[in-house]
Amino acid sequence: MHGGALGWNGLMAAGMFYWLVPRMYGTQLHSKKAADAHFWIATIGIVLYMVSMWISGVNQGLMWQARGADGTLTYPSFVETLIAIRPMYMVRFAGGTLYLVGFCLMIWNLIKTMAGKTAVVASTEVVVADAEKADPEAGTLADVITGRPLWFSIVGFGAAVVFTFVSLVPAIILAIAVLVIGEVAYVVNKKERAAGKASWFGIIERRPMAFTVLVLLSVLVGGVAELMPTIFLKQAVPATGSAQKPYTALELQGRDLYTREGCYVCHSQMIRPMIDEYQRYGEASRAEEFIYDHPFQWGSKRTGPDLHRIGGKYPNLWHYTHLMDPRATSAGSNMPSYNWLADAKIDQELGGKKLDLMTTLGVPYTPEQIANAKADQQLQGEAIAKDLASQSVTVTADSEMVAMIAYLQRLGRDQGVRYGVEPAKTTEVVPPAPPPSPEAAPAAAPEAAPPAPTEAPAADPAAPANGGGR
Ligand code: HEC
Repeated sequence: MHGGALGWNGLMAAGMFYWLVPRMYGTQLHSKKAADAHFWIATIGIVLYMVSMWISGVNQGLMWQARGADGTLTYPSFVETLIAIRPMYMVRFAGGTLYLVGFCLMIWNLIKTMAGKTAVVASTEVVVADAEKADPEAGTLADVITGRPLWFSIVGFGAAVVFTFVSLVPAIILAIAVLVIGEVAYVVNKKERAAGKASWFGIIERRPMAFTVLVLLSVLVGGVAELMPTIFLKQAVPATGSAQKPYTALELQGRDLYTREGCYVCHSQMIRPMIDEYQRYGEASRAEEFIYDHPFQWGSKRTGPDLHRIGGKYPNLWHYTHLMDPRATSAGSNMPSYNWLADAKIDQELGGKKLDLMTTLGVPYTPEQIANAKADQQLQGEAIAKDLASQSVTVTADSEMVAMIAYLQRLGRDQGVRYGVEPAKTTEVVPPAPPPSPEAAPAAAPEAAPPAPTEAPAADPAAPANGGGR
């Protein structure tokens, strides 16, 4: 992705500038050498940038997954995996800097090109290559369907798919077969082109309609795989009697701060059903736990640890200290400080409005809850503020800090997942009692929960969830 953004989009834009500016000023580019240098500086920068990310990604992923002979995580501390990839962060920084230097060089070059000149009205002849001469007649649609390209592709693709399912020996044979098919296809194509026939890609490229349909089909494969679960989950997950309790007004305010501050850029809220994830973060996330999340905060990147089950893992004071200065609780952390949350205030008047808005999205708040939102926020906030005050920290009940802590302490706790220190008791908005549903009842949850309950983090003394590892 970074290669695409920097190398393709970025350098293509640079190419356009190099082409356009001299023509607009009726002159030559000030320095062709500098433009060449830009290309190479940027390319080296991109390579450093990408390779360092690959190395750190694979490295950190393996560290996350590493488990010792006794089955416990080898690197329970997230920060440890972060410190391990720090040198790669520096390389990435160097790569990014080079890329930027290249663009500065371009700006200098263009300014020099424009210096002392005035823009001119110019026209440029753009030569269109004679497509017909370049590639002979493509044949009919029937040629596309019955032609060799399609059949080579299908056989090759089929072999590649079967390859992933079979055992070692047939897999090796298939792998060789795929290579042979590819080689034969290459040779045949070359011979046909030498004989003056249309190139295989030319055949399909010249037929926009067939090309569009085939591209659409291949794109849909991925799209369908992504869409299907959402469609079927609507039936599988009960909309009422949900595993998720609606957020209180204060938690909702905290959630909005979480979005405003971009916490999701570094933190996911989605624990995968894999043993190392489970040991590190707690019970795997389930779709029904996000039913009232509008919009969801799954995130797509873990610069920091997953937060889906952060609720109850630490006392309020830990969160306060951590948000004020992450290095105070987690030496080596690269999370920024959010100390302004302590002074900034939430608008309590908005609490009710936020609940009301959520009802339009299907969250079952009652009119009373909406009417009482302001008082509820104050009550819940006071409980957290009081807990902090008992440990010599002064924040007001309506501070953003308190709202953020309320939200964090709430995360992932709907399933009765409990570990770590209990947060201070808070008053909670009681949602309307859902109709009893055997599947969704909390008592039934442990059976439904993958993996086996005996490995629940709460029962696993080695899991960092219990406060170890840091
Ligand atoms: C630049 C990336 C980044 C951003 C942005 C960020 N964090 Fe973090 N966060 C981290 C890293 C790295 C860690 C692990 C080290 C630590 O504990 O500080 C972490 C740890 C945490 C933890 C402790 C998790 C655990 O299981 O121990 C919490 C809670 C947290 N962050 C909340 C937040 C909140 C709330 C925000 C937004 C206000 C936020 N983070 C923004 C990177 C980030």
